[in-house]
Amino acid sequence: MSDAQQLSGRHVLLGLSGGIACYKIAELTRLLVKAGAMVQVVMTEAAQAFITPVTMQALSNRPVYTSQWDAREDNNMAHINLSREADLMLIAPASADFIAKLAQGRADELLSLTALARPLDRCPLAVAPAMNREMWAHPATQRNVAQLRADGALVFGPDHGDQACGEVGDGRMLEASELFDEVVAFFQPKVLAGKKLLLTAGPTFEPIDPVRGLTNLSSGKMGFAVAQAAAQAGADVTLVAGPVHLPTPRGVTRIDVQTAQQMFDAVLPRASAFDVFIGTAAVADWRPVQAHAHKVKKQTGDSSVLSFDLTENPDILAAVAAQAAQDPRHQPFCVGFAAESQDLARHARDKLVRKKVQLVVGNLGPATFGRDDNALLLVDASGDRELPRADKLSLARELVRDIARRLGRVDQI
Ligand code: CTP
Repeated sequence: MSDAQQLSGRHVLLGLSGGIACYKIAELTRLLVKAGAMVQVVMTEAAQAFITPVTMQALSNRPVYTSQWDAREDNNMAHINLSREADLMLIAPASADFIAKLAQGRADELLSLTALARPLDRCPLAVAPAMNREMWAHPATQRNVAQLRADGALVFGPDHGDQACGEVGDGRMLEASELFDEVVAFFQPKVLAGKKLLLTAGPTFEPIDPVRGLTNLSSGKMGFAVAQAAAQAGADVTLVAGPVHLPTPRGVTRIDVQTAQQMFDAVLPRASAFDVFIGTAAVADWRPVQAHAHKVKKQTGDSSVLSFDLTENPDILAAVAAQAAQDPRHQPFCVGFAAESQDLARHARDKLVRKKVQLVVGNLGPATFGRDDNALLLVDASGDRELPRADKLSLARELVRDIARRLGRVDQI
């Protein structure tokens, strides 16, 4: 699902202040570098008590800066030079003390000096707080964090959970993978900022009895990638997911359902509050008329065929589109998916007309279910557009841009 080089060409200035969470930054650095970012590490003296510059240099592939008196720079001005090439300055972990320094604009060592000397318009600042829950909850810290936000800084986390001191609460630094997702999201154009997007994903499961059911091969990966891309593009995303084992993309509200009827019940009452609805789910078309209360047993000596009646499930996408047609705002903008095994363009166009939606995204089911890549065909009233085979996250980003254009967000693309 991932776009392997999604940070290619990005320059991240990564500052570590003192805290046990420093160990997570080794992994974060690895993830950033693997995604193509150039990572320049700066460490305070306190950070070096938790992790060594040797580790950080080896992982970032660049010499680490620890002192404002570093004579390696020709002009002896590391605090100026370091931020001039950077696209983002991330301080992680950001201790309570370091946040206080940033809030006051103090600059008595290299990292705080660099933060103060950075060009505000070209190198935004993000901090990932890491501290004990009492320190986080203290009015002084809350005041300092509010001041940082007012000064334009982004605040990643903190999380709630077990703390190194043995207490449980708010203040724990985000995990490396979560910080990585925040950095990737930061670099995505916010083409859907202020928009609310609802989508369905995955298969549905229609019970036959308590242990068996009808389902299909959809993995949910494409829908989850669309949810992730839309959230990273600034949308407020709600994802109604069938039974899949995929992590919820950061910032996305998830509602888990099992059957098509439950998916319908989760979607319909909410839909009119959204700007966009995307049906990526492979909804089972039929369900057993009656689910058995107990496991259906084999009859010994009976080799006859088991049969049961099926009834059709409600069509969620068509129902949302019909409801939107009644809405004077024509809301939400409806996008369907078509998973076909052949004749993609014809079937996709047929669904566009039959379900009365504005856009249908066609893909060949057997060639994509469970895989990390896909190829899409965008079909609307005016024609077709192919999105050639690529990883699902890259395709999802392209689809999000396409939808943003249709919503009139052309200026931001
Ligand atoms: N869909 C839905 N509710 C259903 C069936 C489908 O919301 N009960 C949505 C899917 O999420 C998708 C689109 O309709 O966005 C097309 O789904 P697909 O399964 O390809 O088509 P069907 O309508 O089931 O038609 P067919 O089985 O004939 O291909």
